[in-house]
Amino acid sequence: MCGIFAYLNYRVPRTRKEIFETLIKGLQRLEYRGYDSAGVAIDGNNNEDKERFIKLVKKRGKVKALEEELYKQDDLDSKADFETHFGIAHTRWATHGVPSAINSHPQRSDKSNEFVVIHNGIITNYKDLRKFLESKGYEFESETDTETIPKLIKYMYDNRESEDTSFSALVERVIQQLEGAFALVFKSIHYPGEAVATRRGSPLLIGVRSKYKLSTDQIPVLYRTCKLINPNVKNMCNSRLKRLDSSTCLHAVGDKAVEFFFASDASAIIEHTNRVIFLEDDDIAAVTDGKLSIHRLERSASDDPSRAIQTLQMELQQIMKGNFSAFMQKEIFEQPESVVNTMRGRVNFESSTVLLGGLKDHLKEIRRCRRLIIIGCGTSYHAAVATRQVLEELTELPVMVELASDFLDRNTPVFRDDVCFFISQSGETADTLMALRYCKERRALTVGITNTVGSSISRETDCGVHINAGPEIGVASTKAYTSQFVSLVMFGLMMSEDRISLQKRRQEIISGLKSLPEMIKEVLSLDEKIHDLALELYKQRSLLVMGRGYNYATCLEGALKIKEITYMHSEGILAGELKHGPLALIDKQMPVIMVIMKDPCFTKCQNALQQVTARQGRPIILCSKEDTESSKFAYKTIELPHTVDCLQGVLSVIPLQLLSFHLAVLRGYDVDFPRNLAKSVTVE
Ligand code: UD1
Ligand code: BG6
Repeated sequence: MCGIFAYLNYRVPRTRKEIFETLIKGLQRLEYRGYDSAGVAIDGNNNEDKERFIKLVKKRGKVKALEEELYKQDDLDSKADFETHFGIAHTRWATHGVPSAINSHPQRSDKSNEFVVIHNGIITNYKDLRKFLESKGYEFESETDTETIPKLIKYMYDNRESEDTSFSALVERVIQQLEGAFALVFKSIHYPGEAVATRRGSPLLIGVRSKYKLSTDQIPVLYRTCKLINPNVKNMCNSRLKRLDSSTCLHAVGDKAVEFFFASDASAIIEHTNRVIFLEDDDIAAVTDGKLSIHRLERSASDDPSRAIQTLQMELQQIMKGNFSAFMQKEIFEQPESVVNTMRGRVNFESSTVLLGGLKDHLKEIRRCRRLIIIGCGTSYHAAVATRQVLEELTELPVMVELASDFLDRNTPVFRDDVCFFISQSGETADTLMALRYCKERRALTVGITNTVGSSISRETDCGVHINAGPEIGVASTKAYTSQFVSLVMFGLMMSEDRISLQKRRQEIISGLKSLPEMIKEVLSLDEKIHDLALELYKQRSLLVMGRGYNYATCLEGALKIKEITYMHSEGILAGELKHGPLALIDKQMPVIMVIMKDPCFTKCQNALQQVTARQGRPIILCSKEDTESSKFAYKTIELPHTVDCLQGVLSVIPLQLLSFHLAVLRGYDVDFPRNLAKSVTVE
């Protein structure tokens, strides 16, 4: 649950300050993945020094704290030039050992930092490895599982049979001993200017930039580089610096100059280059003399190691905060566009047809299946709860919804005629990924619903749908939820295209989808009213959210948002269960939000409302605009536009997203980085 970023500049002159800035910016883009501590490893010597050493700077807290620490280092001249340099950086979210500088990454092999490593994931056999290494005299300083890795590579290095053993050969030997999940990047004083990266189970990609921009003050630096590469450079270009221009220098450098960016997430790379390579499990990627080579771990030697360079479509402004005070707020307000992006090119409103490109070849098989199982965690699970009823109706199949962790704990029976859906914004959630592998082993057809192209779930499923909501940075998921919701509804519509009895219903839902963006805008215009409500509620300790039927998921999701970012106790309660327990909580102090929409559960919700008011409860009601009945008993109402019952949940969740945001701000919390949580939970 950490973030990896590393930067190698080969024959591209950079000052140490520029290298710092690149590493820090990379970490800041990843900060949402893990953020209790951060660290970097860079070359400690200057280019001219004979003695090489690696300098580690690590700090508990946010990346900003690390940045300040970097500039406090007296022995690091920030003006020093490097024509070739490899720096690695990491943000950590503690899993083994408390957040501290010593436990943060890079972890090192020994006091002279001969090998340093950054790691994302968990090494499950680290205790055995540590015992072995300690028996060989290696001393450990941290509580992390990661520290076994630099120690192990040093052991391999100390015991290498030949002086010529390559860096990647050592890494290969190391990963043969590792169990668990990892993305790793290695740096070593024994292999200056070289990088080795590898992964198994955790994401890692490499960005490549072979043309770089040169500022005028870099020309003299480049000139020195040219001289180093080609001693005859003086004859090739005018020796008087003032008459040197960048193209002459570049000519002298040739096309060898190149930069590599290693990251666990594309958002850290996109501002440098959109040319990326996604590593696969057991790939070992090495950069030596500015050349990148990828080979497979021996045991998977039969696989093809060639990896195509892909072009990322993401734009930098897509991942910037814009005018909003938090990414979460920005993402809530993006929903009119993000749901359109989810439907774009897929729903044809003229012909009332839906075509999901990723599923069309598997439709026959899905139609023949015994049941659908929809699996996810957190918000993604709620998207499954929200759409279960409409999927049962449109597919006429039994639909199970499952929390990934519980699904695995139960060893749930899965058969080859099951179709298993895996819902995940990040596409990397470990529990969901494990459930996917479990279902694959049992030969079920696996379908991903992910927001992250190139993510593990997207790659490992047989087929699927990219929800195309755009990068979501706020830890509390918002726009991904509504896009997952819409994607699942689209799937139901596609499945029911031939069902004559369902045509009227399909038509009604497709019209609902068409007007959804405008209705979302209308709900967002209630922001001020919801802010006022937050002013009344923000000092409360608890908040109950109640509803049923199509809107039960809204209650679960609303309560999760409130818990995640406001740290208030909040519970989503099925209104049908009220009299079986939760009613005991109701009195005039307990804040209760009730979601009562004009749908088949309306009358039953009225009963629940009566029960609440009879106990002096003062319900805040989210209701349809035209509902005059509920408002009579409400302490306050938030009136929402009315849409088709099965889509109402897309609208009813938004006031709760906004409410949680305002409550968190009023309570003084960091909305985008709630304590103890991470955006992408890549450990079980
Ligand atoms: C694809 C293109 C999209 C293009 C459109 C034009 C990609 C990623 N998408 O979108 O840019 O505009 O064609 O026709 O290139 N998949 C999985 N698991 C998942 C998600 C997806 O296996 O979790 C697979 C799908 O089965 C499909 C592929 O990935 O083979 C792309 O999926 P998706 O982006 O949803 O497909 P299209 O909407 O057709
Ligand atoms: C984490 C996040 O627990 O993972 C939640 O904090 C999120 O917000 C959950 O819902 C599932 O994530 P994903 O990426 O699989 O949808």
